[in-house]
Amino acid sequence: MAEKKQSTMTLTDNDSGQSYELPVLEGTIGPKVVDVRGLYGETGMFTFDPSFTATGSCKSRITYIDGEKGILLHRGYSIEELAAKSNFMEVSHALLYGDLPNKKEYDQFVENITYHTMVHEQVNYFYRGFRRDAHPMAVMCGVVAALSAFYHDSLDIWDERQREISAHRLIAKMPTLAAMTYKYSIGQPFMYPRNDLSYAENFLYMCFGVPAEPYEVNPVLADAMDKILILHADHEQNASTSTVRLAGSSQANPFACIASGIACLWGPAHGGANQAVLEMLDQIGDKSRIPEFLERAKDKDDPFRLMGFGHRVYKNFDPRAAVLKDSCHAVLKELGVKDPRLELAMELEKIALEDPYFVDRKLFPNVDFYSGIILSAMGFPTSMFTVLFAVSRTVGWISQWKEMIEESSLRIGRPRQLYTGAGPRKYVPISKRK
Ligand code: SDX
Repeated sequence: MAEKKQSTMTLTDNDSGQSYELPVLEGTIGPKVVDVRGLYGETGMFTFDPSFTATGSCKSRITYIDGEKGILLHRGYSIEELAAKSNFMEVSHALLYGDLPNKKEYDQFVENITYHTMVHEQVNYFYRGFRRDAHPMAVMCGVVAALSAFYHDSLDIWDERQREISAHRLIAKMPTLAAMTYKYSIGQPFMYPRNDLSYAENFLYMCFGVPAEPYEVNPVLADAMDKILILHADHEQNASTSTVRLAGSSQANPFACIASGIACLWGPAHGGANQAVLEMLDQIGDKSRIPEFLERAKDKDDPFRLMGFGHRVYKNFDPRAAVLKDSCHAVLKELGVKDPRLELAMELEKIALEDPYFVDRKLFPNVDFYSGIILSAMGFPTSMFTVLFAVSRTVGWISQWKEMIEESSLRIGRPRQLYTGAGPRKYVPISKRK
């Protein structure tokens, strides 16, 4: 078959009249990219894109998002289908290895994860160093980074088997560490993982079980938790995933890289938004105050933003928000919980989506808008919401990290800048300074 002609883009410097041919690369689906890797060498100029609104940082085969159409695919499978028909272990296998597992692969993967859920007993002592009222994300940053102090046998990032063991350990131990973080905050004893429970059931058991009596996991809650884990698992090159990739590009060990992702996710503009949504709904309190807060959200002089709304990529409904909105009703009905915040959230969504400010800017509810209401109904405090996001996103982070390490040309990520500071000047002794 004739070689496909490489398409190019011509860049002309109008000052010098010089033109440059830049290669245009095309993926499977989605926007093409202009390859600017040679730009500085040819032109002596950098590109400039401070918050990476138009920058492709890597090639990836894991997740595809079409923000205009509200499409999210993991290894080609739609998030709607995965949420409705799959489970978190299957989705984790697909993210990590490239496809949904067959029965044998599934059973092997589940066994690998199950038998890595316990943490070294010494890890318990890290918790004793934190105040009981420490933010759970502060604790998670610490204890996850500390794992690299324990697993010296799986820190060699160039060894495929060690990379795989680290990935299994991280996916398996995150729920255990998260549950320990929650238990520590409420002064209850840690619960050891159980190998007879599914991933989601085990997490709920470790969070809400107590040694004093048996704990039966509610299957509806386990199903909702599994769905929440699926919906938060990966999301292309978002801020925390890009942080993990950048940390990984320095050849840091996988535990340190995941800890850097946790730190980035904590921000209220990112994964911390699920906690901020509930705090916002509590602040609004009543439907009658929605107009007041919408006005504040539009006021450039007011730092208030409508939390759980807007997205850098989605300029349509975040498909995950739609699934979570449905799950909200199912979980609250099952629990017989009437959370006025759900009614408030739905009214807020309705009014905002009729308001030109939000419509013109294509600001729709995102994944964080409804998730907190479900988690609150399950019994989690708002401070634990972003921890749950991190538990799920760990498989996305480690899959993206693995994909990067396995690229033939791993190079350290090192962006440049547009320098606007002082030009060269001589040192002035303090006696001569004004
Ligand atoms: C996640 O990237 C990912 O994929 C992230 C994530 C994932 O799975 O990894 O999807 C998870 O982080 C979801 C987003 C959670 N964050 C929030 O809900 C916080 C509230 N949202 C905003 O902070 C904001 O929408 C961001 C941070 C999500 C996106 O910011 P952008 O892309 O930089 O958009 P922007 O700030 O340039 O906004 C464009 C305009 C601005 O107005 P103008 O200057 O054009 O007049 O929209 C306005 C903004 O002021 N705007 C909002 C708003 N979000 C944007 N105005 C009010 N309320 C908001 N929520």
